[in-house]
Amino acid sequence: MIKLYLILFLSTALSADDRFKGCYKTIFSTQTYNVSWTTSEQCINECKTRYYRYAMVQNARSCYCGNYLGEEVNNTLSCDQICDGFCDNVTDVFATGNLVPGPPEEVKLTNVTDSSAHISWKPPKSYTKINGYVIKATVIHTYANYIPNSPEWSYLNDTFSTKIILLPATKYNVTLCALSPDGCGAPFSRVIETEVREPENPPESPNIIKRDGDRMEIELSETSNSNGPITSYLVIVFNDDSQQIFQEDSLKSYYEAKREGINYYITAELKPENIQRRFIVGDKNYYGKYYNAPLETNVHYSIIIGLVSTLNGKTKRAFSSLKHTDTDGTEEFIEVSGDSPAVIIGLSVAIGLLSFMFIAGIIGFIILKSRVTTRRQRLSENQELTLQGPMIEVENNGYIPEEEHTKVSYYRDLKQKVRTIPYNQLKVEPTNLLGIGRFGRVNSGSIYENSTLIPVAVYSIQDKKLSADDKKNMLRDLDVLIKTRKHDNVIALVGTCETSQMVFVVLEYVSMNLKDLLLGSRDSLPGKFSNMTENQALDIAINVAKGMSHLASNKIIHKQLCARNVMVANGFIPKISGYGLSQFYSHNNLPDYTRWTAMEVFKGQAHNLKSDVWSFGCLLWEICVLGGTPYGNFSNNEIPERIIKGLRLPQMQYFSDELYQFMLSCWQIDMDERPDFDVLLESLQTFQENSLIPCLSFNLYPNFQYEQFYPDMEIAVRPVF
Ligand SMILES: *[C@@H]1O[C@H](CO)[C@@H](O)[C@H](O)[C@H]1NC(C)=O
Ligand SMILES: *[C@@H]1O[C@H](CO)[C@@H](O)[C@H](O)[C@H]1NC(C)=O
Ligand SMILES: *[C@@H]1O[C@H](CO)[C@@H](O)[C@H](O)[C@H]1NC(C)=O
Ligand SMILES: *[C@@H]1O[C@H](CO)[C@@H](O)[C@H](O)[C@H]1NC(C)=O
Ligand SMILES: *[C@@H]1O[C@H](CO)[C@@H](O)[C@H](O)[C@H]1NC(C)=O
Ligand SMILES: *[C@@H]1O[C@H](CO)[C@@H](O)[C@H](O)[C@H]1NC(C)=O
Repeated sequence: MIKLYLILFLSTALSADDRFKGCYKTIFSTQTYNVSWTTSEQCINECKTRYYRYAMVQNARSCYCGNYLGEEVNNTLSCDQICDGFCDNVTDVFATGNLVPGPPEEVKLTNVTDSSAHISWKPPKSYTKINGYVIKATVIHTYANYIPNSPEWSYLNDTFSTKIILLPATKYNVTLCALSPDGCGAPFSRVIETEVREPENPPESPNIIKRDGDRMEIELSETSNSNGPITSYLVIVFNDDSQQIFQEDSLKSYYEAKREGINYYITAELKPENIQRRFIVGDKNYYGKYYNAPLETNVHYSIIIGLVSTLNGKTKRAFSSLKHTDTDGTEEFIEVSGDSPAVIIGLSVAIGLLSFMFIAGIIGFIILKSRVTTRRQRLSENQELTLQGPMIEVENNGYIPEEEHTKVSYYRDLKQKVRTIPYNQLKVEPTNLLGIGRFGRVNSGSIYENSTLIPVAVYSIQDKKLSADDKKNMLRDLDVLIKTRKHDNVIALVGTCETSQMVFVVLEYVSMNLKDLLLGSRDSLPGKFSNMTENQALDIAINVAKGMSHLASNKIIHKQLCARNVMVANGFIPKISGYGLSQFYSHNNLPDYTRWTAMEVFKGQAHNLKSDVWSFGCLLWEICVLGGTPYGNFSNNEIPERIIKGLRLPQMQYFSDELYQFMLSCWQIDMDERPDFDVLLESLQTFQENSLIPCLSFNLYPNFQYEQFYPDMEIAVRPVF
């Protein structure tokens, strides 16, 4: 009884009366559903399942569903209550409770490969506003031996197809929803499974335990594979004395190989669970459908192990490298073919066996070559970052001291740390050029993030057209940005986007630079010579120091720190820019850094973290004098010699002695005596907290003069790029 009451209560909780919105003029633009209905509730439910916001009942005869209210009908008596058919051409409108769009229509998930799937769709039937679309691929099952991410992609509302990049042999629940201001709409969902890919690691060569007449005892080891299941292992006998080349495609059983004159064959197929550690080649049993034929005595054999990975009718295989053995089973020499194509190491070469080595070399070369080719193909399919052209080994460089060892796979690893922005999600404004960098133009643009468009700076690089040297430099500069990692006071690398021709490097966009902000703050409020407060100026210095400390902790040397290279986002938040790929300037605005350069650099030493501290001292001075030109009374060519002879920036009447001493410490000749950025940051914070003795004062005094700003002295005469 109680239960019944409860149900009754629940079902009446949101009755038609509660949902009644009022009387409206009927709109016939929306779709009409002439459903067989008896109550308003039924009409409401019909419209709700169709993802409409409103159910409209006209003249107690027809039920319409729609997303927009028409013109409200006022002052008619009948609208004081539900019309129930007594008013002509007026509908009673009910809210269905649904706010979000329906599922996208005509969704097609096609061309599912080992690395991607294509998805296309049409807008949902019912919506009021669509900001964009969100695709999510939730991993349901994978063979990967790590926990993979379930990726998510967002698109603008004019995108109706895309290619999503996925892991191989992985089952995903792919969902697609239309994003509205009220949240994500009803999702379309489908489960797909990507194809198996060639095994990640080739199996290890077996250990030959002993060779005994027509038998050979070998030891096998298991292999791991993230690219698909391990279906079985093949044991392949290879006749070393025949001068044949091992070709995966001509692998046969013993009898077939014999008939066709092929001197290698599959002698056993072992299920992974049956992989006993020891296996006897030539024991005359059948393994799978293969006869394990006895070996011929006095013939040299090698054993190759094949890994078979089959999923949904597709099979991929990988093979161990050749390992030659003598008739008695002792290993003569080993040719290692590591996963890295570049590494081939010959070991223990016996002089009498040079011919052996020659054959092995050819075989190894062929195996490697096919591997490299398939790898290349795979990479270009995935459009991996900067791997479109030949792989470039990146060497140690001046930016990053004590660089960790750079490997060939380095950029592949790095790429995982960079957000990949789908091309159709990136809008470049071709007419709004922000500047020119060494490798291309930088335009303003926008990307879609968390259902809002955010402005970005887009560096367009014609990757294919770069010379090898430029490409190397470009990678290095990109690498510097990637290594920087996110920090509030450093311009962020948002991500990269690639097409077959171009690499787009997407950076955080801030339009104001510190130099302009400082010069713009020169203003005479009553009793003041700046509209910026001393505290704001110190805040900027402190936050630049935080950003520099972050760069230093990532072992990045900036080399060009000055106010022009610091951008200022809303609320006086400085963001360091002008290093790595974040260097770009308008044509007639190429900075000359002479006035910020450390003494040792003039003497020919390389830049280091302490030369950045020197530049920071100059920048601090620049902030305190509101954008004045350092050493404004000397020309650019005089500066190096004067600095070496002891010239330093002067103390102003409005700096405290402590603040000036602190600046001087940044310009010590002995680099060890200059503070590092952490110490520097602490000192600046102490200055700021000490309100008793202000270190800086923008109070006007008699005969005050701004430090001169000479644009020509800060701009390079010859083009830098
Ligand atoms: C809906 O059905 C009712 C009665 O069955 C009919 O009078 C009305 O004309 C129909 N409306 C439409 C738009 O088909
Ligand atoms: C309907 O009534 C509302 C307030 O009750 C009023 O603001 C609005 O102007 C009226 N509209 C018409 C068409 O009379
Ligand atoms: C109701 O709508 C019909 C068709 O749109 C029209 O012919 C009729 O005159 C309208 N009646 C009133 C009272 O407005
Ligand atoms: C899907 O694959 C087929 C055949 O491989 C190709 O013709 C077609 O263009 C592909 N479709 C898309 C959308 O990539
Ligand atoms: C798509 O987005 C734009 C910009 O936000 C908006 O003006 C337009 O109405 C949207 N389109 C749809 C179908 O919602
Ligand atoms: C896939 O995701 C949708 C939406 O979240 C969910 O309704 C559906 O049950 C999921 N399917 C599977 C097989 O997990």
